[in-house]
Amino acid sequence: MGKSHRNPKKKGLINDPFAVDTIKKIDYDFSMFNKATMSQAGCCIRSKLIDNQTLTFIKQHPDAVIIQLGAGLDSRLQRLQLQAPDTVANITHWYDLDLAEPISIRKAICPAHPKNSLLEMSLFDDDWIEIVQTHNKPILIIIEGVLMYFEEAAVKNLFTKLCQRFDKTTVLMDMLAYSAKGNAKHHDSLKHTKQKSEFKWSLLNSSDMEQWHKKIHLTQEMYMSDYAGKRFPWWIRLIYKTPFGYKHVNQRILRIDIS
Ligand SMILES: C[S@@+](CC[C@H](N)C(=O)[O-])C[C@H]1O[C@@H](n2cnc3c(N)ncnc32)[C@H](O)[C@@H]1O
Repeated sequence: MGKSHRNPKKKGLINDPFAVDTIKKIDYDFSMFNKATMSQAGCCIRSKLIDNQTLTFIKQHPDAVIIQLGAGLDSRLQRLQLQAPDTVANITHWYDLDLAEPISIRKAICPAHPKNSLLEMSLFDDDWIEIVQTHNKPILIIIEGVLMYFEEAAVKNLFTKLCQRFDKTTVLMDMLAYSAKGNAKHHDSLKHTKQKSEFKWSLLNSSDMEQWHKKIHLTQEMYMSDYAGKRFPWWIRLIYKTPFGYKHVNQRILRIDIS
């Protein structure tokens, strides 16, 4: 929703006409989110940083297989193809995985793509791992806006399984701001939704994930306020200027290499 709302604005971070089209096809009153400027900007910065990291991976591995776990209605493949058609042209395949309901909505309203398959299963299932490994190509796993809704034990089990099942792979993910853990009731978008989800997981130090398994290497960490310009409200920009605020209130984008 953030990507569609920000898209038409001047100096928009992200050009995603697919998100604009998708939102138009959904019969839902999105106006309650109009004032959620913090999360709209946050979603776009997060997506843009992950888009850039995805393109970097594909430039290094032009025949890559990419899978998004908990893809929702995100149209990253189409967005990147619009932005960098030559870079994306030779990828082997792109999978978008989600649970049954979001996948059926995707099938109904999102554009199909010859190199895109939808996988209807949980990210905790093993089947998707076999599917992506069948190609025998470099694999990129994208998990955006998803892991914060699970308990730490579930996230740790997932990464342990990735370490056991992959010789080598790369994960791009976001790490929720530590201060937001347990505080979904104060989130400018989530507080308006009927289905009350909670933010269950975040780490203050992302590098603690390396303690979970010797194959986990945090190779990049980007603090989102460093890429926001003046897109966040003034009061939060002030908070980010303090060392405590920068560390505790910042969402981060991580590149994790498993090898
Ligand atoms: C906040 S949305 C993020 C969607 C998308 N990645 C984005 O950034 O726009 C979280 C998504 O995770 C999906 N999800 C939740 N539990 C899941 C599970 N066990 N397996 C796969 N997807 C799941 C939800 O259905 C939802 O589409």
